[in-house]
Amino acid sequence: MRLSVIGCGYLGAVHAAAMASIGHEVVGIDVDANKIASLSRGEAPFFEPGLQEILTEGIASGRLSFTTDVAAAAGATVHFVGVGTPQQAGGYAADLTYVNAAIDSLLPHLAPGDVVAGKSTVPVGTAADLARRVSGTGATLVWNPEFLREGWAVQDTIDPDRLVVGVPAGAEGEHAAETLREVYHPAVAKGTPFIVTDYATAELVKVSANAFLATKISFINAMAEIAEVTGADVTQLADAIGHDARIGRKFLGAGIGFGGGCLPKDIRAFSARAEELGRGESVNFLREVDAINLRRRERAVQLVVDALDGAVFGKKVAVLGAAFKPHSDDVRDSPALDVAVRLHGLGAHVVVTDPQAIDNARRLHPQLAYEADRDAAIRDADAVIMVTEWDEYRRELSPAHASSLTHGRVVVDGRNGLDAAAWRDAGWSYYGMGRP
Ligand code: UDX
Repeated sequence: MRLSVIGCGYLGAVHAAAMASIGHEVVGIDVDANKIASLSRGEAPFFEPGLQEILTEGIASGRLSFTTDVAAAAGATVHFVGVGTPQQAGGYAADLTYVNAAIDSLLPHLAPGDVVAGKSTVPVGTAADLARRVSGTGATLVWNPEFLREGWAVQDTIDPDRLVVGVPAGAEGEHAAETLREVYHPAVAKGTPFIVTDYATAELVKVSANAFLATKISFINAMAEIAEVTGADVTQLADAIGHDARIGRKFLGAGIGFGGGCLPKDIRAFSARAEELGRGESVNFLREVDAINLRRRERAVQLVVDALDGAVFGKKVAVLGAAFKPHSDDVRDSPALDVAVRLHGLGAHVVVTDPQAIDNARRLHPQLAYEADRDAAIRDADAVIMVTEWDEYRRELSPAHASSLTHGRVVVDGRNGLDAAAWRDAGWSYYGMGRP
């Protein structure tokens, strides 16, 4: 099938390449000429495992191309819209500027029978508004939210755990759902749940999934706060409650909390939308979820300060990690980088290292010192803090090796990913998050 994908960021670029990899003919479109030039050369403009390979293959096969010219969308059967919906400057609501601009630019190139499939995360009610604009062209709007995790985006796109499509009522909606079933044929054929619903439900599935995940993380981080004043160990607590199949161990990793381009802004936009709908109280707890999350960054900073006898001024602190999570170079709302910035603000000599995210981090926070080499970053450090659980730090950095490089013997484990006993046995003062 011929497909167009409007927006070639973390979502759209992966979607375009993944759709080509399952046999479709795809054109990716973006207003950013640099991004398009890089994608056209077969170079992934950001780090995402597996993307480079399917990009190269897609371009070589002739099924995948990229352009800044939205007219190239003409002739495609399905037009995916995967542009960003960032948090509004000065508010909590989602900024729909890019979604509106993408739809406006697409309208002149739509033909009757085309399907426009929104993938961006939008406030509930957006699809109904956009459908009115699209309907004049004879095309059908559907909402097909994306649940991909950065770091596993290729796999999550090709082999998702569910597909959700919000469609208008009647034959038009049924036809559009059928078209999407064809697009996702390999996943559908292997029995992946394919849920056809209305616009509002499809939009809400996405934001409620992210709200639930954020709540789960903040729940365990709240337990970490209680553990800290009682001497309990939150990681054992998580293991124990995680054995209950109704609870499950996933997303019960206590630490410096969630960040990234989705969870933080999505729960805020959800609160803002619920307020607009007169149901703010229904999701009031999301404010608490946000507050708990942000407190954990401060807690990690405090652990470093306390471990260095109350003063970090002039001390060298090595910060292991800048990305919001491993297997990503994304530093949007990264708790790791936030901790580094706060320590820098207290006068510490902060050196940040990360296997992938240094360039992005430096663009955002040029005031920090960066060192690509892990060992150079920790050399002569008074304290080491691990804030992104890359294997390079979690598994591959032995306490004995670290001891041969650092000045001090203080390690703060912002992700509860290090072997506490091994570090203590090697003579280190180890501090976890919600652990004795
Ligand atoms: C998330 C959703 O998982 C995905 O379905 C949605 O489409 C987009 O948002 P992503 O932002 O890639 O994906 O990251 P995710 O893996 O969900 O992690 C989010 C944050 O939570 C990271 O900062 C991570 O470090 C943190 N986290 C995760 C925890 O602090 N503890 C955990 O147990 C799990």
